[in-house]
Amino acid sequence: MLQYLLTFVVLGQPATPPAAGADKPAAEQSQPAEKAAAGDKKPEAAGNPCDKNAPRPANKPKKTLPPVGPRTDIGAGTYWMPVANSDMAEHVDGLFLAILAISIFCFVGITIAVVYFAWKYRHREGHQAPESDAHNDALEITWTIIPSIVCVIIFLLGWKGFVDLNTPPKHAYEITVVAEKWKWSYKYPNGWVDENLHVPVGEPVRLVMRSKDVLHSFWVPSFRVKQDVIPNRYTKIWFEAKTPGVYRQYCAEYCGDRHSFMKSLVVVHPPGGFKRYMEEAEQALLDMPPVELGEYLYAARGCNQCHSTDGTTKTGPSWKGIFGETHQTSAGAVKVDENYIRESILDPTAKVRAGFNPVMPTFKGQLKDEQIDGLITYIKCLK
Ligand code: CUA
Repeated sequence: MLQYLLTFVVLGQPATPPAAGADKPAAEQSQPAEKAAAGDKKPEAAGNPCDKNAPRPANKPKKTLPPVGPRTDIGAGTYWMPVANSDMAEHVDGLFLAILAISIFCFVGITIAVVYFAWKYRHREGHQAPESDAHNDALEITWTIIPSIVCVIIFLLGWKGFVDLNTPPKHAYEITVVAEKWKWSYKYPNGWVDENLHVPVGEPVRLVMRSKDVLHSFWVPSFRVKQDVIPNRYTKIWFEAKTPGVYRQYCAEYCGDRHSFMKSLVVVHPPGGFKRYMEEAEQALLDMPPVELGEYLYAARGCNQCHSTDGTTKTGPSWKGIFGETHQTSAGAVKVDENYIRESILDPTAKVRAGFNPVMPTFKGQLKDEQIDGLITYIKCLK
């Protein structure tokens, strides 16, 4: 019980919380603010593609992401470091324990010697301090050389760990990590964006990390990996998880008043489970109503970096109310319809709207047809 209470106090959460993400659909996890805003509008007529609260057919319930399950790294009954779950962690622990053992040996040895000599050579009536040598070459050389060798060994082992930590295997699976006040996002090669880090067991994973605002630090205690995440620069880290389970991930750099809430989970999937999760997650996206999918992709795929939905002009034109309008483009006047939006996503420089630069990257091969449908519907609904 005491362990449970302490865990609660230290971590701010009970040792066995409900499965994260099990109770919320994917879209709500990603965009609570926008969803709340959309909820204020009055309900629209049935059959309206813009109505995100339209009743869904019984055979097509709203898909939610697979639950991530209870955490496995806490509640194990230890005040020591969490279970080491990577080769790197074992190297770090080995070195840490060796330094700890040497420190305890020196502390105990020196304390015993000090107490013993203080007692043995205490002042007594009639005793005279004998003459002693100014120095002792053999002793001094010994206590210089042995600690120096120990320090060099510690340095070499630490250096090896540092180099290993910064040299991912060539075939490592790469995930993009984006830090911002105060959340982590994980982007996968297939375009899926998750609020938790999902990785396969027994495979090296390389994280390429950047920050949208201030200095953060990516930390997974169970893997013993920690790396600053910095704006305007990429930092990298890699690890290979040894045991499936759910582990804590923290921000380890004070980044504002909600710094301590900036945390996520690392879900290490058993063999085959990672691929399945990715497919299920992608399917959950495809099963969303098109307008919801479009709204999700607008934020998840970074359209929001250049296009506003409120009429503000950024690097690209705002999406608000453009559907049906006629625009001057580099290829003459064009009516904004489904085909023009689709072309602009797949071949953005074909017809660039007047007053804007041809800077948009192509999304050819990166978005499925259903996802493009979703974006078109979302733009249609922005009135
Ligand atoms: Cu981000 Cu602390």
